Amino acid sequence: MSSAKIKAASNASISEAALHLAEGRLVGVPTETVYGLAADATNPVAVRKIFEAKGRPSNNPLIIHVDSAESARRWVHVDHPPWLADQWQRAAAFWPGPLTVVVPRSAEVVDEVTAGAPTVAIRVPSHPVMRSLLAACEFPIAAPSANPSNYVSPTCAEHVRQGLGDKVAMILDGGECQCGLESTIIRLRSEGVELLRPGSISVEQLQDAFGFVQLPHEDDANAAGDGSGRTDPVAAMPAPGMLAKHYSPTKPLRIVDAWQPEKLEPSRVARITFAPLPDAQAGRFGWYRSLSSTGDLNEVAQHLFTAIRQADATACELIVIDRCDRSGIGRAIMDRIDRAAG
Ligand code: TXA
Ligand code: MG
Repeated sequence: MSSAKIKAASNASISEAALHLAEGRLVGVPTETVYGLAADATNPVAVRKIFEAKGRPSNNPLIIHVDSAESARRWVHVDHPPWLADQWQRAAAFWPGPLTVVVPRSAEVVDEVTAGAPTVAIRVPSHPVMRSLLAACEFPIAAPSANPSNYVSPTCAEHVRQGLGDKVAMILDGGECQCGLESTIIRLRSEGVELLRPGSISVEQLQDAFGFVQLPHEDDANAAGDGSGRTDPVAAMPAPGMLAKHYSPTKPLRIVDAWQPEKLEPSRVARITFAPLPDAQAGRFGWYRSLSSTGDLNEVAQHLFTAIRQADATACELIVIDRCDRSGIGRAIMDRIDRAAG
């Protein structure tokens, strides 16, 4: 498939993308986290096309992107009780940026977006191209990551073309994503917040802002419910998309300490490290890439998905990758690596 659908961001291409969306078509869009598969969030027919294009189960809800916390108000109920209004204000302080907030929905949200849930996930993205696109649209934008369900999220326009090129009217090219991992998702509580998906906004940052962060139960990666037996319909649905074996490459992937060199020699391994290996070591691998020249975890996050895709396209049999501490951005990095390892 040709790359003619990829268009560099400009006033003209942003207007064209806005028109496609207004007419119910899908567009690949850049955000600071990963590329999204965008549709007019108020058009149920267009929203259904997202699920079809991705092969996404219809019970897995989408994030609505808006240009400000103010314009989100039409789609949410956050004025009462008072604790919710307070927590909403705290969350809004992270916007525009890579934080998604799950709150009670208003009746105006189309059911297809929330998969029938009483809540809606809202985000105000910071990517300048996405912000211009939102300004050019008279509706909010529903967008999951622009990858076929269960594959690695896209961090550049070319990734979107490879996975969904024939499903979109166009792809707006806003360069390589700065974060490289999907947004952090939280649910607001009267005391603190519940982490539904780790991302670029760290647990430490959330602790500073909200005081308390409920971390996901171990079981949440494997079950649709939260395993607590609670009947609260909001609590009973963490992030339905956070199933194990998500973000997976086609080839098996192992964290370095689970790789047994005696069983598979380095020449058949695609090796991804967080900081450079000495040349003599690096040269033994069938394919090798270091994600940062200094071991900077923000750079590791930014380049992780691209490297996994590249490693997946080699003739190697196994992808072997470093690990890091689960603090700061390290928590989101290890979450994605664990899921890719299955
Ligand atoms: O960074 C991101 O968040 C990107 C960009 C494009 O904004 N989007 C993204 O969307 O990662 P997606 O659909 O790939 O992941 C959204 C996650 C899914 O796991 C979904 O189950 C969860 O958010 N989610 C959406 N609405 C929810 C709700 N009402 N309650 C709980 N989880 C929800
Ligand atoms: Mg996704």
